[in-house]
Amino acid sequence: MMLPEQHIAAETDRLFKKLENLSWTRTDCQLYAPLTLEINQLKKEQDAIILAHSYQTPDIVYGVADFVGDSYGLAQIAAEHPARKIIFCSVLFMGETAKILSPDKEVLVPSRAGCSLADSITAEDVRGLKKKHPGVPVVCYVNTSAEVKAESDVCCTSSNVVQIVEALPGEEVIFIPDKYMGDYLRRMTKKNVITWPGVCIVHEEFTSDAVKAVREQYPGVKILVHPECTSSVIDLADYVGSTSQMLKYVGDSTDVSPVMIVSECGLADRVKAEHPERQVVGACALCPYMKQIALKDVQVALKNPRPEQRVEINPAVLKKAKMSLDRMFELTRK
Ligand code: 13P
Ligand code: SF4
Repeated sequence: MMLPEQHIAAETDRLFKKLENLSWTRTDCQLYAPLTLEINQLKKEQDAIILAHSYQTPDIVYGVADFVGDSYGLAQIAAEHPARKIIFCSVLFMGETAKILSPDKEVLVPSRAGCSLADSITAEDVRGLKKKHPGVPVVCYVNTSAEVKAESDVCCTSSNVVQIVEALPGEEVIFIPDKYMGDYLRRMTKKNVITWPGVCIVHEEFTSDAVKAVREQYPGVKILVHPECTSSVIDLADYVGSTSQMLKYVGDSTDVSPVMIVSECGLADRVKAEHPERQVVGACALCPYMKQIALKDVQVALKNPRPEQRVEINPAVLKKAKMSLDRMFELTRK
């Protein structure tokens, strides 16, 4: 049997192997090891899994997460995984999505972190839009509350937004709440897209001048852009996709040119940690909501959850919201 010090040493080694490309020292890893060990043990005892969005901090992504991904991939896991309990390390709408898809599971969030997009629109606003544009299908971005999903016909994520809109009948669509993603949709489809003035305060910060400067400085650089960015930034992209699609693009490519990740810094960190052969250039941006989640709160959620860490949704809202998510899965399966 291993002594406690040996467990800590083994955990320190495990963390260091994963984090050294992010300039974590062995001492940093040693400081985190007791907490990651405890969290991983609690997960086993409780038949729990930890889902983490790629924008989470490296201690969560590489220390305790069982699955790391984008909104679509994590929603799929939440729907299909047999675990009894899910700890969702991300902003609240992703925890809510997990609960909607798996109502019988216990779903907890370390922190009820918001999102500028999800907070920009209410169910009442959607009812107003439907009244103004009767009969026009409503597509909601997954970055919305359960109540907004319940008022929508179909949900989508950044990985399938064009596919979902194209799959709907008719020439018109109400797309909520990301106005920049709506602009992107107008360019990718022939439909008349009615939008809502929501923005991601993180992706909105990137400017075309900053991206052009990186292109000039690093000839051959590949610019990877999230569709929450403005059109002038998307215009400069070599690739536009969800966070997992961007990561896959890097993993699949055979060239070793530098990459600019026009997204949140957590994704840039994943590229640095998992693809050390690629030079990551240019500035990334920090999401103040995603970065509210701390490893200590993950431990609390498992050990002695605070009431606000439990994700509960009104059953009538949940039932309707599930229909818009189920429709997304149906349309993307075809
Ligand atoms: P992804 O689904 O692409 O990970 O996007 C989620 C998000 O909040 C991006 O800001
Ligand atoms: Fe919301 Fe933007 Fe943060 Fe994503 S990066 S959670 S869209 S505020």
